[in-house]
Amino acid sequence: MCGVHDSLVVAMNEATIEKAVRAYEATHQTTPELIVRAPGRVNLIGEHIDYNGGQVLPIAIDHATIVAAGRPKDGGRAITIDALDVGRTHRIEDIQSYRPLGHGAEDNHLDYILGPLATLLEKGLDASPLNCTIASDIPIGAGLSSSAALEVGMLLAARALLGCQTDPRTLAEEAMSSEHRFAGTPCGIMDMFVSAAAKADHACLIDCTRRTCRQISLPGSERLRIVIIDTGVRHTLADGSYADRRQACEDSARRLGVTTLSEVRRSDFHEQALPTDIRSRARHVITEIDRVERFVTAVEAGDLPLAGQLLGESHRSLRDDFEVSCPELDLIVDVADGLKSSGVYGSRMTGGGFGGCVVSLCHPDAIEDLKAELMPTYASAFDRVPKVFETHAADGAKLVG
Ligand code: GLA
Repeated sequence: MCGVHDSLVVAMNEATIEKAVRAYEATHQTTPELIVRAPGRVNLIGEHIDYNGGQVLPIAIDHATIVAAGRPKDGGRAITIDALDVGRTHRIEDIQSYRPLGHGAEDNHLDYILGPLATLLEKGLDASPLNCTIASDIPIGAGLSSSAALEVGMLLAARALLGCQTDPRTLAEEAMSSEHRFAGTPCGIMDMFVSAAAKADHACLIDCTRRTCRQISLPGSERLRIVIIDTGVRHTLADGSYADRRQACEDSARRLGVTTLSEVRRSDFHEQALPTDIRSRARHVITEIDRVERFVTAVEAGDLPLAGQLLGESHRSLRDDFEVSCPELDLIVDVADGLKSSGVYGSRMTGGGFGGCVVSLCHPDAIEDLKAELMPTYASAFDRVPKVFETHAADGAKLVG
């Protein structure tokens, strides 16, 4: 990453860090003992693959959640949470009495904050008493994993205050368990894993069965820029369509006699063995797993046009077979695909789907052309403009103060 980008990244997170620290000091009349930065993510390829046991290739992004934390010395057990982005302050006298509030509850964001602490408590790690102030620059609901970053950030802050050694896999597993049991979303491990384990300038090739990862070096910024285009369409994974897709994949695996669809090679997949209503879901998963492998090979060989072509195939598979796209995502990908000769290598929807963002891999010179073409076309179709911003492969969660 070049120096200009470094300073931009630092500037954005620094403002968020400063916001969290100032608020912490104002509330608690002392400085926080530590500050954690936990990034959001964008997935380059391997969508809806994590809960099918295959490999996925996300990066951590510049946008992050900041947790400023300390342990009060007043002898009590209370946990005080200042969630700056939702403008709420909470005091919980005893974490043992916390029960999930559930979707739709006014203070549902607490499930992503206290769930991780309750998960630690079950392991005998009692984070109370605790003061923490949370601020984030990850757009909420855009499919950039603001909730995984929050869970990972809380876990790392609590563990560090307790003086516990922590490895990225443990953080990811605890965050996923917390999300399943306290936030109520049956997600896979990708978002938490990359938030915990990412390395700057690399994509994280996560094996979701073994729960290991290999860092894949990305081409330099003189050749490759990663652009995120936010449709502004918001969709919550909790509304059932994510769980339906997951169910269809699990049914397919059972009927094919395997534990997860990652055990079926593309060349061995006989889709007629499956009923028509779930066949195309399995087809997406099995072809996508194959695309991830080919994408990694292409990136490692520096073949960005081929990598871009695989992104396009991934998008069509998500749109037609997995049916998780939406008109806004499709239009952005169509416009971007029309700019291949200007250096837009390839684009696809990223994350759970039904809204959220497109990720585009571009030559640096192509970004202005992409914006110029996209803005008016999108505005005339949907009466508003998307947000377009560049991101860089960032480090995973760590103490920054
Ligand atoms: C959401 C989930 C992830 C993953 C993606 C789709 O982001 O949280 O676990 O399943 O959707 O790839």
